[in-house]
Amino acid sequence: MSRTLYLSRLRRLLSKDAVSFSDALRSRKGWRPREVEIRLTWSCNASCVMCGLDNFLDKTGQEYNKRLPADRLLNVIYEIAQLECETILFSGGEVSLVKELPDILKHVNSFGIESHINTNGSKLTPSYCDMLLESGLNGLMVSLDAAEPYLHDKIRKLPGLFETAVNGLSYLRGKRPDKRGFYMIINTVIMKNNFRHLPEIVKVAADSGAGEINFSPLSIDNSWDDWATGMPELKLDDNDEVELAQDIFPKVMNMAKKHKINAMIPAQILTDGSIKIEKKLFNSNFVNCAVSHYHCVINVNGDVLPCCYSSPEEYTMGNVSVDSFGDVWNSEKFTQFRDNCFPAKFDMCVSCSQHRNENELIQRWFDRLLKTETTEKT
Ligand SMILES: C[S@@+](CC[C@H](N)C(=O)[O-])C[C@H]1O[C@@H](n2cnc3c(N)ncnc32)[C@H](O)[C@@H]1O
Ligand code: SF4
Ligand code: SF4
Repeated sequence: MSRTLYLSRLRRLLSKDAVSFSDALRSRKGWRPREVEIRLTWSCNASCVMCGLDNFLDKTGQEYNKRLPADRLLNVIYEIAQLECETILFSGGEVSLVKELPDILKHVNSFGIESHINTNGSKLTPSYCDMLLESGLNGLMVSLDAAEPYLHDKIRKLPGLFETAVNGLSYLRGKRPDKRGFYMIINTVIMKNNFRHLPEIVKVAADSGAGEINFSPLSIDNSWDDWATGMPELKLDDNDEVELAQDIFPKVMNMAKKHKINAMIPAQILTDGSIKIEKKLFNSNFVNCAVSHYHCVINVNGDVLPCCYSSPEEYTMGNVSVDSFGDVWNSEKFTQFRDNCFPAKFDMCVSCSQHRNENELIQRWFDRLLKTETTEKT
């Protein structure tokens, strides 16, 4: 779902459900698992230069890569629905390789939960797009790392990918023109080989009908996710980061404005429109993180992680092949993790730029709430 819509929903929810959410925050208990990411497979048909999936799979072995049985997966979705989940994002690996995807989407839909997928776009032919729409899909995120076919296909090592992905987006936009009812988001990783072309990528994204483009920093170690181990030579150096902040990002924002698309950049935009240059541009500097009170990730093998940045080795909260989702969500271990997010002090939090806005919003709302309570008491 688009970040702007997401934040406006969150704002509404904070005023509507202030008591139950603030109770959960105070007790560090799980609130509703409002948005859950489920990773359906680690298989992939691409071999992107920035994604360490292949090495990761070699390292992790069979148990880790084993998929939850299909009937258990449907049951887990039922358990999540009982706890008032609102959206499920299906990801991977490459989720479009999962043949049960249409049935899974229909199942999610039957509970009134919104469904989204995260894909490289390689399967987005008209008939596949029709199948997604008929199964009740509410939106999708498609990766685009270059503005022209040759470079994108080279980065992803999959010939023809750019064309299929971009044509698929245009087809979907034709079928579902309502940008609020059907979300199409582009994900772009910022790397040495593409950072000077980000404004043109914004234009391609807008022309193909996407409502938002989400730029992420390249991760070269597993501080973000175990598979996200891009080649170090693709990482921006300090000079590149300055150029990005002073020259490229302003062009990105202008292009986005001109083509009426939201651009989410991993940096702080100050009230005068300038972009804050930190020594490390992508460092998050929020202090408290409330995300694991309403979000989690279920890995291919059923491991439950508190957020998409957390590594299974250190942060598995439980496994839904042996426990119910509710038991894991309300477990002592999960409560402890949430407690350790106030303040958020894990290594992975440094590169977590995506949740900055919502955490800042929640922090401001919670501070106001505490102030009102104090004033009422005196
Ligand atoms: C693992 S992919 C899964 C979805 C799908 N296969 C795709 O490529 O869109 C999720 C996102 O992570 C991005 N990604 C891959 N390697 C990365 C890295 N080293 N650092 C940051 N993002 C990365 C991808 O470009 C994609 O947008
Ligand atoms: S980024 Fe996505 S498409 Fe590329 S190798 Fe990784 S999982 Fe596959
Ligand atoms: S701040 Fe830390 S705990 Fe919170 S979502 Fe980001 S990585 Fe996860």
